[in-house]
Amino acid sequence: MSAARSHPTDSTVALLREGYAFLLHRSERDRTDVFETRLLGVPVLCLHGEEAARVFYDPERFERRGAAPSRAQKTLFGQGGVQGLDGEAHRARKAMFMSLMTPDRLRDLASLTTAQWHAAAVKWEMQDRVVLLDEVQELLCRAVCRWAGVPLTPAEVTLRTADFAAMIDSAGAVGPRHWRGRLGRARAERWAGGLIRQVRAGDLDPAEASALRVIALHRDPAGALLDEHTAAVEVLNVLRPTVAVALYVTFTALALHESPEARRDLLSGRGAGEHFVQEVRRFYPFFPFALAKVRRDFEWRGQPFQRGRRALLNLYGTNHDRRLWGDPERFRPGRFRDWNGSAYNFIPQGGGDHVQGHRCAGEWITIELMQGALRFLTEELTYAVPPQDLRVSLTRYPARPASRLVLSGVRRSG
Ligand code: HEM
Repeated sequence: MSAARSHPTDSTVALLREGYAFLLHRSERDRTDVFETRLLGVPVLCLHGEEAARVFYDPERFERRGAAPSRAQKTLFGQGGVQGLDGEAHRARKAMFMSLMTPDRLRDLASLTTAQWHAAAVKWEMQDRVVLLDEVQELLCRAVCRWAGVPLTPAEVTLRTADFAAMIDSAGAVGPRHWRGRLGRARAERWAGGLIRQVRAGDLDPAEASALRVIALHRDPAGALLDEHTAAVEVLNVLRPTVAVALYVTFTALALHESPEARRDLLSGRGAGEHFVQEVRRFYPFFPFALAKVRRDFEWRGQPFQRGRRALLNLYGTNHDRRLWGDPERFRPGRFRDWNGSAYNFIPQGGGDHVQGHRCAGEWITIELMQGALRFLTEELTYAVPPQDLRVSLTRYPARPASRLVLSGVRRSG
């Protein structure tokens, strides 16, 4: 093994400076899909591109137990959830999530969400300006709680939305943003734990196929209920990321504003809404990478992978890999007409299989809600985008337009 391999340089400063693009820049500069570095002093193997994604999602080679940094568990993910499970325990828990994702249940969520868009638009017509990101977080919070069988009084909506938003905003942060996320998670876990208790005691009776009921009554492979805390974490694993779809909705509105050609194609019927939404998920930054630990020693492309070593898969960079996506820095939805549908080359929400592997359980929900938002923004509303700071910094995690996208003069069309 070379000296460079046993003592890789620390890239924390470069990561902070280049943000989402750091892994991509390094892979392109060194023309490699795998390299070793250190982040905050910890050795990490970095994987990039389609072939690397196939390796990363091989459960013989990687596992998730102990892979997530504790800072992210205390804010974004929680402890004991599906993200950190492997093997049979993971498959059983993941099946619980995927049972919520039937076409019927997706349609229910879509129609509850459309009703919330309509109700919000009535309110927006009476306002001079609307901060889209904040508004969509709230309307998605109302819709997903209703869908999940979670009772939410009107007085509670602001607090719950704020706690979800704080968790989402905190994962890559230090200082006050991190602490707001911890506080939001602690409060939300207490609340969700109380709901689980009520369902189990028969004091709350959510609908048959609702997330709250399914999770509260789920039994693990040994036949035991999940402990209350784990069940609370899993309820939040449905609610929180659905509220996070507001970021993608905001990017959808930003793309409509900043990519007039794609907008024209869409409105004239030349471009498909489905392709527009896929391009938003490819183009805009969301999760920079996925994390795992090496399960057993192996070698790939000459790089030794030692058991227990942390590994990152470059999600953002793979979606901007010029070997896969011609002119990757251009927003061009039409490219999805020719996409080959590989489970490993377009990975904003992870790669591989939804049921067997760790690919995002909510990917279909995300696409459904984004398509609904795109339809609403283009067919049901008119609005202006006043001058504001729309820049999307690649060094802020999670990324978003600095202004959170302000709309003015919102009117319902027709
Ligand atoms: C996992 C992204 C929305 C539930 C993941 C992963 C990513 C991701 C990158 C990790 C993949 C991996 O570890 O290999 C996103 C993005 C979303 C989103 C960008 C858009 C806002 C959702 C929604 C839900 C959801 C709407 C639920 C309704 C989950 C769950 C996991 C997960 C439960 C863990 C899956 C597992 O470990 O097996 N997501 N997600 N996500 N996501 Fe999402």
